[in-house]
Parts: sequence; structure tokens; C-alpha cells
Amino acid sequence: MPSDKAKLRFARLRAFEDFENFFALAESLFLSLFRQGESLIAIKRAIESLTTKLIEGVDDKNRCCFEIITNIEFGNRFISHSLKTAMISVIIGKGMQLQDSKLVAVVTGALLHDVGKMQSSNNPFMTPFFSKIKSPQELKARHPSIGGSIVSEFLGFNSEVAQCVSNHHEQLDGTGYPRKIFQSDISPLDRAVFTANFAENLLEQSKYEGSEQFFTSALYAFEKFPLKFDPAIKKVLQEFRERPAMSRRSYERVDITLTANFHTTDSYRVIPCRILDLSGGGARMRCREIMQPGTNIVISFAIGHAMTFNDVSCKIVRHFVEGDAHQYGMVFQDKNGLLGEKLDRYLHRYVFKS
Ligand SMILES: [Fe+2]
Ligand SMILES: [Fe+2]
Repeated sequence: MPSDKAKLRFARLRAFEDFENFFALAESLFLSLFRQGESLIAIKRAIESLTTKLIEGVDDKNRCCFEIITNIEFGNRFISHSLKTAMISVIIGKGMQLQDSKLVAVVTGALLHDVGKMQSSNNPFMTPFFSKIKSPQELKARHPSIGGSIVSEFLGFNSEVAQCVSNHHEQLDGTGYPRKIFQSDISPLDRAVFTANFAENLLEQSKYEGSEQFFTSALYAFEKFPLKFDPAIKKVLQEFRERPAMSRRSYERVDITLTANFHTTDSYRVIPCRILDLSGGGARMRCREIMQPGTNIVISFAIGHAMTFNDVSCKIVRHFVEGDAHQYGMVFQDKNGLLGEKLDRYLHRYVFKS
């Protein structure tokens, strides 16, 4: 987790909250990917959902997100590296003005670019991809192509995503690996992921000493090895350096309203309700619908402007008739405990004045 000093500096920024959320989502999706028995559809949906959130949430008009990722190292190195590479790829992809589907391919490829390194995965469906690997050196040399196969054959992503993964160590001057391909064989999307991965490794090497340190090192590398990098991407990063450092959007502690809608799992009719209170794993709500304990519902709610939770599964556990309304106790179907944790954090921070 981040150091207290860095955390204090960024804690009030909306982008910091976003980053904490991205990290929690990335942690949960990689755990599912590398664990036995997880549903492939659920894993793919989690990847697609995080990719969408990153594209929406990482703003390339200011350096706010970038200030956070260049200053703070979060928990697990693999997850932190994958997530930050994806976040940098959003900045690069938006700067390159990629059309939507290409941007999605780049960010998905960046998020998954090193999955070919996870030979220790407990997911039996991934084991065959590593069957011929005899040594750590061989794994390092072949992880881009193994990753490309996992992404296309196991996860079912399209060839653009798979190619971003397979080519993330290929360099324009032909000195990359594993195929040592040149210039036009490396697509702009592959170049974006290559540069994002390079940039993230540079952050690690420069010990997260801030964006200025990063830009100095990156521009030095661009000057020293001009043939390895795409000049258009170099220009994107140079221009990005000039953007304002901080977004003016920041949270204020205010009382905010909790609104919600739900539908039962056998119907898509949306029914508004009022959340009376909620804590980590449960809630009370009031609505006009009659339901029995055991009914499963899917609920979406928003905490003011701060956060929206979509499609949370809940189960009714208590029912009281209350005049012409009904009051229900419900529990969240919160497999990883992540939702409960997030709710507690948001409520304490933004709803209850402390
Ligand atoms: Fe790699
Ligand atoms: Fe990497």
C-alpha cells in the first residue's frame, strides 16, 4: 500500500479514490484469472469492465492520475505493474486519438500484457500454455507469445488485443523480442503498449520519485534510442508533460443522498427504493414492492456524485410491513468482501461527517 506521506498528499483527490478502486478491481480479476475454478465468462467480463472504467476514469487532460502513479507504488508488483501500464496506455491511446475499439484493444492488451509470465498460476486451463517451458530464462523470452495465446485462445479476445500482448517487447529497430520484428510489422497499438510498459518499468527504476523524474528519464531514453520509439508517441508524452498537474475536481465532505434502483432477478422492471442505512455487508431499504425473504435482487445505487455501484447482487433476509410501504433487510452477495470494504470507506469518508 502507499506510504502515508504520499497518501496524505493525494488522499483528497478524486483520482486517488479512482485509483484505489481500479487497484481493488485489478486485484480481484487477476486473482480470478490465476485461481482454479473461476468462470471464464466472469473473468472476461471483469477484464472488460475494468478496461471501460480505466478509459472513462483516466483523464489525459491533466496529469492528476499520472502524478499518483508516478509517486505511489501499490501492493503486489504484478498487479500494480499491469494496472499502471494500462493507465499509461489510456493516456497514450487517447493522445494518439485512437478510435474507441482500438483504444479498448490497447488498454486490454496493456492490462494483460504480462499474463504469459504467470507459470505459477493455479488455473488448470492456463497450465498447457506453459507446458514446454523449462527454465525462468525461457519463460522470460517466451512470455509475450505465451501471453498472446492465453489472451486469444483461452480468454477469447480479438487478434488486436492478442497482438498487443505478443508484441509488447518488440522494438521498432528490430532489437526487441521474441520475433525481432521491425517498423511496419509493429502496429501503432503494439507500439502504444510497448511504450506504456517501458514507461511503467521506468517508474519502478526511478523509485517512484514523481512525474518530473519520470519525464526526464523517459525523454533521455527517447533521445538516446530514437529508433526504438514511435516519434508520434514520444510527442504525445511530451505534450502530456505540459498539461496541468492537478484536476480541480476534488471531494468535499458533504452530506449526500443515497439513491437506488433494483430489479428482481426474474424481471428487468426497475423499481426505485430508498436505502435507509447500509454497512459493510448489508442494508435496509424501503419500497412499495412486496418481496419474501430469500428473493434475490440486483441493485444499482449512487452515493451523490461520488460513486455509483452497478449490478450488485443482494438477497432479502427480513421483511416488515410499514403502512403502505415495506421495509426490507438485505445482504450483499459479496464474494471477495471488496464491495463491503468499499462501501464502508466511502460512507465514512463522504456521507458521515468525521
Ligand atoms: Fe513483458
Ligand atoms: Fe511488463
